[in-house]
Amino acid sequence: MMCSSIKAVAALAMLSVWPLAAQAESSRINNSPDYVMMNPSSRTGLDLSGSWAWSIDPYRDGLSGFHGGEAGIGHRRFDPVDVEAATRDDPAALFEYDMRNAERTTLPGSWNTEADSLRHYNGLMWYTRNFSHQTRNESRYFIRIEAANYTSRLYLNGAFIGSHEGGFTPATYEVTQQILNGSNDITIGVDSARTPLSVPPPVTDWETYGGITREVRLIEVPQTFIDDAWVRLTRDGRVAATVQLNGIDGSGQSVYVKIPELELTLTGKTDVNGVFDTTAVVPKDLVRWSPENPKLYPVIVTAGHDTLNERIGFRTIEVNGLDILLNGEPIFLRGISMHEEELGIAPARVMSEASARALLTEIKEGLNGNFVRLAHYPHSESTLRLADEIGLLVWSEVPVYWLIEWENEATLHTASSMLAESIHRDRNRASIILWSVANETPVSAARNRFLKTLISDARRLDGTRLVTAALLTSQSESDGIVEVHIDDPLAEWLDVMSVNTYNGWYGDMPLANVHALRWTNEHGKPLLFSEFGAGALAGFHDPSMKRKFSEDYQAEYYRQTLAMAEQIPSLRGMSPWILKDFQSPRRQHPVYQNGWNRKGLISETGRRKEAFYILAHHYAELESHVPP
Ligand code: GCU
Repeated sequence: MMCSSIKAVAALAMLSVWPLAAQAESSRINNSPDYVMMNPSSRTGLDLSGSWAWSIDPYRDGLSGFHGGEAGIGHRRFDPVDVEAATRDDPAALFEYDMRNAERTTLPGSWNTEADSLRHYNGLMWYTRNFSHQTRNESRYFIRIEAANYTSRLYLNGAFIGSHEGGFTPATYEVTQQILNGSNDITIGVDSARTPLSVPPPVTDWETYGGITREVRLIEVPQTFIDDAWVRLTRDGRVAATVQLNGIDGSGQSVYVKIPELELTLTGKTDVNGVFDTTAVVPKDLVRWSPENPKLYPVIVTAGHDTLNERIGFRTIEVNGLDILLNGEPIFLRGISMHEEELGIAPARVMSEASARALLTEIKEGLNGNFVRLAHYPHSESTLRLADEIGLLVWSEVPVYWLIEWENEATLHTASSMLAESIHRDRNRASIILWSVANETPVSAARNRFLKTLISDARRLDGTRLVTAALLTSQSESDGIVEVHIDDPLAEWLDVMSVNTYNGWYGDMPLANVHALRWTNEHGKPLLFSEFGAGALAGFHDPSMKRKFSEDYQAEYYRQTLAMAEQIPSLRGMSPWILKDFQSPRRQHPVYQNGWNRKGLISETGRRKEAFYILAHHYAELESHVPP
């Protein structure tokens, strides 16, 4: 699968006619992935996690020779060759790699923790393994890479299959023609390097974690299969189902969407594009999903020879004036932000279900939270499914972060494709209520056009959720009162305005003045604090509360900021920055940081800081009071 230039031109065309009329909801957009492969872990096939050989390639000579052009036979790690045997058979042969005798690692994983020499490696890495599979003529075969950071190239039995850009969304490739019955060699080239045209750009405030950080799977499906199935509750109170088949018998095919517990079956035939779209009256005994009662229903989709199983929660989310309504009732989002980084002193961004459960449980039970901002990129599907299961509302976002090349059509194509891959993968997840299209991006006409295109894409792919972005603000002072203004023009196009605010940590405002800050909200929309926070090294104390990086200062920062928040009538939620200290190359104070951003309420080993208890108490108070 290649990211085609045709799609990029279409994206540009959309830019030039902006503002577009309100876009009708559609099951796909130009930049939707070639294959969605909904709920891949439920499919027949092979989990290729485990032992892989690896070989670094800093000068990328596995991709092109020393004068450009084809890579030399002695460098092509993806060739299914037994180098040792080939060299014995032909003394003239020269190989400058040998994957069968290379060092091995366990995937999923990032190379940062593989060896000291790789801690900060930023370039191309080759991974390869062999697997055996008995194939069947009536099946089709796909390789699914859940995440590889930042660009990845797939080869099977020496054949180049396709490439993907983006470190946090899946790539699905058909390999029916290339897979062998029996032994197969799979090679994936992963390049962690980013350019100013990338999404995100090279400079962020989090560790890169180059590698294949989520599962790689071989998936077997019938000739015609259920590629996408989206089942949800609409705002006008109906159950809706959109099913996309892929294959020669995709059109005119009977489809059945069953919810056995509700004794409900939606059925009909697909159209010429293999799409079946329908709605039905909501059964009276439907139990709506909520954080307090995260009810999930088994949903069984059948079409021809294929069956797809899902577990789906049914709820509505909407805005009414300044309120966010969950199932028609106003809600306050008691949240925290979280990177995809497991607990421990040497994380590798391998977010197993157990790792995710430890962190999400700390939010739900430790902080009395009902909400999590999964920053700054789409997290693992297993984390989203866990949020569905334990009952946490989710903010999901794409890494359109800081300095993006707003005028570049390829960059827009990358961002739009990433958003579409994320929404197609996750729009069955009841926990997700917000799609965010940007974080702290400087205002300009080009940036507004770029983000309005993403907002339009999100609304077309999913009209059931709210769209937001983390904005920056401006401040004014009169009569000694400092006022914060949300004057970002993008606010007009969002359902919910979100802002990152750090008075008392960044800038020169004395901490003691923060509680008196006043906020204006000319937009009449719900406001979220998508970030606020202060750093603290767990165990460093300064009772005077004057020393930054002390737990005492961080605790006072939370007291001051929460007191300010309580004075804001339009505030409907918050996701302070951040649950856990996380690795960032930008944070190098030799005493307090050493490569860690210390704004966590818990340390990298899970040690709770004083501020943790301040926020937990605040949320317990909010939980016991009916929202405004
Ligand atoms: C910014 C940014 C975060 C960053 C944080 C910080 O708001 O969104 O990614 O880590 O501030 O400075 O710690």
